[in-house]
Amino acid sequence: PLSKVEASKRLAAYKAVEDHFDPSYRYIGIGSGSTVVYVVEAIAAKGRNVTSKMIFIPTVEVGHTKLSAVQALKVSVGLQDLGLKGKREAIDVAFDGADEIDEELNCIKGGGACLFQEKLVATSAKKFICVADFRKLVPRLLTNWKTIPIEVAPKAAPTIKRILITLGSPDPVIRQGGSAKAGPVVTDNGMWIMDAPFPPLKLASDLEEGDKGDGTHGTWEVHQLGRRLKRIVGVLEIGIFHGRNGLQVSNSGEEGGGQRP
Ligand code: A5P
Repeated sequence: PLSKVEASKRLAAYKAVEDHFDPSYRYIGIGSGSTVVYVVEAIAAKGRNVTSKMIFIPTVEVGHTKLSAVQALKVSVGLQDLGLKGKREAIDVAFDGADEIDEELNCIKGGGACLFQEKLVATSAKKFICVADFRKLVPRLLTNWKTIPIEVAPKAAPTIKRILITLGSPDPVIRQGGSAKAGPVVTDNGMWIMDAPFPPLKLASDLEEGDKGDGTHGTWEVHQLGRRLKRIVGVLEIGIFHGRNGLQVSNSGEEGGGQRP
């Protein structure tokens, strides 16, 4: 039997597919991580006559050694890199996991180091559906997940680290590979991942008079920090997903699940 966490991921995934998948869709974005494996399972359960007409756009390079959920499940669907997709057609829906989600449905992503392509797929989709188990929903980002993953150009890493420290991140670290491979994790784009710790991020509604949420009071408001980090030269993308109108989260609670619009 599945553990409580795995059962929760699966429940959220099946609910997300039930509510946001349509057999008429052609392009489906499929994210990274262990939760979307259940999304693929739920889509595959629709049968070959549905899936054979679809093209899945994964958030890791097709053929990359890191397995995407689709490859892991050996589901026989068309797989295509985003860059090769027909230019005129949008991705109908993209499903992805998250590391943390706040009350306004802003997310932290990038635990698996594919945040740039995840954001590219998410923002290329008509609908972005974030699927998460009960552990991921927190009042404010960086409650349990303590760092923001940032994809950086290796050459710029020392400068970026210095800037992050001035912005209030005490000790940003370059993510290192597993024991088999020494040295920094290298992303699909030849970049490094810097994990920058920050105190929990405020929502705009938390700000008291005189606090712009710009870090000067010790804490940042989520959109302000997102915009500031994106301005740093050498930052390809950041793991804060915020400000997407219509972002929805399928959240399976411990009690058996549900959905927050
Ligand atoms: C990958 O870079 C992440 O953004 C994943 O989507 C996130 O870590 C969720 O993974 P799990 O579903 O394995 O928790």
